[in-house]
Amino acid sequence: MIHLIPQKALEALHHATALYTVEPVCDTLLERIGWPSVSGKLIDPSAGDGMFLLCAIAKLNLEIDDLDTLSRVRGWEIYPPAVESGRERIAQHLISRGWTIGYARIGARQVLSQGDFLLEGPTEPEYRFVAGNPPYLRFGRLPDAFKDLYAASLCEASRGDLQHAFLMRCSQVMTENGVIGFVTSDRWLLNSTAANLRAKLGARVGIEHLSRLDAQTSFYRPKDRRKGSPPRIHPVEVVLRPAASSRIALTDHPVSPDGEMADPEGGGQLADIATIRLAPWLGPANIFVVDQKTARRLPPEHLIPAVDTDDVDPRTDALSAPRRFAIKTDRHTTPPEAITEHLASEMHRMPKRGIRKTGWLPPEKVFDDLSRPALLIPRIARKVRAIRLPPGILPINHNLYVVQARPDVTLEQIEAILLSDSTHDWLMRNAPRLENGYYDLRSNLIRRIPATI
Ligand SMILES: C[S@@+](CC[C@H](N)C(=O)[O-])C[C@H]1O[C@@H](n2cnc3c(N)ncnc32)[C@H](O)[C@@H]1O
Repeated sequence: MIHLIPQKALEALHHATALYTVEPVCDTLLERIGWPSVSGKLIDPSAGDGMFLLCAIAKLNLEIDDLDTLSRVRGWEIYPPAVESGRERIAQHLISRGWTIGYARIGARQVLSQGDFLLEGPTEPEYRFVAGNPPYLRFGRLPDAFKDLYAASLCEASRGDLQHAFLMRCSQVMTENGVIGFVTSDRWLLNSTAANLRAKLGARVGIEHLSRLDAQTSFYRPKDRRKGSPPRIHPVEVVLRPAASSRIALTDHPVSPDGEMADPEGGGQLADIATIRLAPWLGPANIFVVDQKTARRLPPEHLIPAVDTDDVDPRTDALSAPRRFAIKTDRHTTPPEAITEHLASEMHRMPKRGIRKTGWLPPEKVFDDLSRPALLIPRIARKVRAIRLPPGILPINHNLYVVQARPDVTLEQIEAILLSDSTHDWLMRNAPRLENGYYDLRSNLIRRIPATI
């Protein structure tokens, strides 16, 4: 069935996803999956301008005008100008190997089909080899026309990101003894939002090989794209084989491209000895988090000193005296007039996601119990930092808040684990990477830090 997609949506999709793989990376991946040493067909589900296909064809022992052997290689690409360049490159390659022009052009069309792989591509297990670099794009960022089509046709586990949908579909078109060699972003391996995908995929395939690629040197962009900024992804090459014959099982657990997730020695995790919470986001400045000038006009019993990472000395990690105060209100009690008046005059700046039915409540709950000393861990950081928080001080803005969970374990012991070299190594292997050397230190990850006292 042909799906009519507006030209604009097609262009937007291609521009958001076209990141072409350089020849040496394609070659190595094809070698890793053993193409073409045994019989069977190969498919690249999102061929771009055809580099994987070209490398796959170059490895085939082809007689002149031998369309039959060439039919072992198939590719799909949704964007017509990319299909055109891909077919042209394939035809030129065949001509350079002595093919007659007519057969070279027929061969190129036979290899590369134009269409949406997810909606029009194969669904049966007929490919022993799958190779390529599937598009990465979160579903929320898809052009609307695609959102509607995919929402109606893709399973729940496929719908987080285009690369999830490609991984799922490719695991279905792979034969029982097949292999997938993909360049992907590392997101589906590490993010908790892809847990369901990993579990579903894991029923069919497991990981044979996984390593990082250099984002600066592994790709080139289509000619019509602006040069300059490096791709905002952390690419990996991954080889997937049927679950029974793979090296690492795929389950809902994250898998680190920097080494397998270490099982904590003795089985202990930080969550066994510490409580880790996400500090509340209370909205933009000067609504529920006020400066000293505003604080002077409000009743002190409703104010709690609040700190963010800009209150921490970046060299020493020492906390300076709080300069801001969070307004604490209670669902069941109307706050004093000074507070309701302040909120009434400032609430127009609160974004929709921060507005609660009870007008005097902040977007997220202020912690009730701040009676114990604690540690603040900045969530976005190059390495884990543990900043000491005296009792009575509220961390805000989704930093992490850590207190003891067992009377026999001190905060100093927890701090020592957080700042140890082994924790640093573990986090560098297991934390999702952001740009410029920063890591996303989520509470679930911090809870899993190996910790034995
Ligand atoms: C990351 S590029 C990779 C291209 C090529 N495999 C390579 O490695 O050089 C992804 C390509 O997928 C194409 N694409 C995106 N969605 C697609 C779909 N639903 N079906 C087929 N191709 C698609 C894009 O137009 C883009 O050219």
